[in-house]
Amino acid sequence: MSGEPAGVYVHLPYCASRCGYCAFVVTTDPSSRERYLAALEREALLLEGEASDVSFDAIYLGGGTPSLLPPDAVARLLAALRGRFRIGESAEVTLEANPEDVTEAAVSAWSAAGVNRVSLGVQSLADAELSAVGRRHDAARAREALAALSRSRLSVSGDLILGLPAQTAATFRESLEGLGDAGVGHVSVYLLETEKSKTIEEDRRAHPERYLSDDAQADLWLELGERLAARGFGHYEISNWALPGREARHNLKYWRRAPTLGLGVSAHEFWEGRRRANVSNLEQYLDGVEAGRRAIGFDLPVSAAEAAREELFLGLRLREGVPVERVAAFVAEAGDVRLWSDYETWLEGGVLERRGDRVAFTERGYLVSNEVLGRFV
Ligand SMILES: C[S@@+](CC[C@H](N)C(=O)[O-])C[C@H]1O[C@@H](n2cnc3c(N)ncnc32)[C@H](O)[C@@H]1O
Ligand code: SF4
Repeated sequence: MSGEPAGVYVHLPYCASRCGYCAFVVTTDPSSRERYLAALEREALLLEGEASDVSFDAIYLGGGTPSLLPPDAVARLLAALRGRFRIGESAEVTLEANPEDVTEAAVSAWSAAGVNRVSLGVQSLADAELSAVGRRHDAARAREALAALSRSRLSVSGDLILGLPAQTAATFRESLEGLGDAGVGHVSVYLLETEKSKTIEEDRRAHPERYLSDDAQADLWLELGERLAARGFGHYEISNWALPGREARHNLKYWRRAPTLGLGVSAHEFWEGRRRANVSNLEQYLDGVEAGRRAIGFDLPVSAAEAAREELFLGLRLREGVPVERVAAFVAEAGDVRLWSDYETWLEGGVLERRGDRVAFTERGYLVSNEVLGRFV
């Protein structure tokens, strides 16, 4: 396989504690960490042959909490990946970090190991919100982490969550402006997915007054786009804003359907027209790789029809949208008269818009994107 450069995602599941809202595959038991790091290197070796003629221009160390690893383990892991895959000198190398792990020393060690981008899980700059979901850092510690990163040469992204318990419009604005003032070049804002956590869902039902209403969240979401636009950020994907040239290269690969490998427990990949994922059980992952095989949970070919569908529901997440003729062909061939009339209504009602030969969501349209994208899944 040749052509567009690929990305490699590595899942690091270790966390110091579990946050109230998190549904990722994580563990708070560090005892298997050395075995796990060895397994990642072995998995890279197992994949080496499949990727021998592919160039990579992005590595993403995600989690879990990659910043919890000792920096020398990060360096070893990156060196092992570089030893197995053709990773370009100027590849984007992202590490997900939690604020409590960010120190001047850690930042220089990550940088020396080859990391050039840090995605910081700020979530909020209000103490009441952070403690309500069990974060280990307070707002002051998050601000210190942002300051340490801003003094480095690393490219910095900050994550915020909209809809946290105890959040108000005023505190959300402060968190957003705090990130902007700290000089980040990239911002991700996620709507709190309460269905991923029983505790938060129950709390929301019992204390609705502690949560912003859906309407208030929608207003804030539009406002945040305006605030970031005023700072020069472009809204390039539903949940992501970036200064020009600071878009997440690795993440763009998911939405543009570029090839990516996924190493580690629960990691997903798109490779040679197949969607594959490793098992989500840590022991099974370790046992599989230690026995000399990948621990694949599923491995499915993507048919032409599925590829057309994926192109729409992934591509429409992006501001660049998708070619008009692809949407028109899909809608015409779907054999669903309602989809055709809905598509026209979305265009006329300003949910979708045509830009040149492409179709994309409008800013307001993004607010109903779940409903629209659901029709293409
Ligand atoms: C893979 S997580 C890990 C990041 C890092 N360990 C941390 O806690 O900051 C990446 C991001 O997903 C977001 N996230 C996780 N669970 C979420 C949920 N239930 N609803 C909305 N966003 C969520 C958070 O903003 C988080 O920073
Ligand atoms: S949000 Fe981050 S730190 Fe918290 S449990 Fe999930 S991965 Fe771990």
